[in-house]
Amino acid sequence: MILLDNVSKQFVRGKETVFALDAVSLRVEQGQLALLCGASGSGKTTLINLCAGLASPSKGTLHIADNKVHAMRQAERAAMRAQQVAVVFQLFHLIPYLSAVENILLPSLTVSLSDPVPRAMQLMEQLGIVHRINHRPGEMSAGERQRCAIARALLTDPAIILADEPTGNLDKESAAMVLETLDTCRKKGTTILLVSHQAVDTINPDIMFQLDHGKLVKEESKP
Ligand SMILES: Nc1ncnc2c1ncn2[C@@H]1O[C@H](COP(=O)(O)OP(=O)(O)OP(=O)(O)O)[C@@H](O)[C@H]1O
Ligand SMILES: [Mg+2]
Repeated sequence: MILLDNVSKQFVRGKETVFALDAVSLRVEQGQLALLCGASGSGKTTLINLCAGLASPSKGTLHIADNKVHAMRQAERAAMRAQQVAVVFQLFHLIPYLSAVENILLPSLTVSLSDPVPRAMQLMEQLGIVHRINHRPGEMSAGERQRCAIARALLTDPAIILADEPTGNLDKESAAMVLETLDTCRKKGTTILLVSHQAVDTINPDIMFQLDHGKLVKEESKP
């Protein structure tokens, strides 16, 4: 479950204050796929970062899979990300000197998994990047890097997936592969918060949220 209550985030830069999120309250039940939309700069990535515990709210509370993220120390948040909450970053954040499969296997350094290598292979196959197994990020296209970042996030079968524009660099066919993979996770009970501009028609979200200048302006549940 993802539960935000009255969450605000302000960034202070000298004399300027940016209100990136303004009193946002929302709820995503376990096993739901939520779509988060909004124009560029509306606060989507800020919201993902707060849910992941990568930033702290200026105000409000966040409950993510029974974790009170707003009240947790940095080490506890890191453990939460390792064990329960996976993030697909908008800018990928792959390790440049590791190969594709090594990047995908990274989460297995912090969590004990029974068969990480076959699981990594299966994900690469599912996402159409198995032919890039030994390529480093610099030797992959943006779309291949993106799918590599998605495979890394899914390796541990996390309870919650926070995916920030995971289809942003993909053609229709690759985007469909990614959305299908996320849909398979939803069917297994994973809670997914997906930032996307294109996915509305293809993925049939359980609930949709729209941000505008940091405010939640629209919420729509599947009838
Ligand atoms: N560290 C920061 N310091 C100051 N301002 C920031 C910081 N991070 C984000 N912002 C501002 O907060 C607002 C929301 O940014 P955010 O990255 O959440 O937008 P977004 O909806 O993800 O946009 P995009 O669709 O372009 O990825 C923007 O106006 C941005 O400039
Ligand atoms: Mg963003």
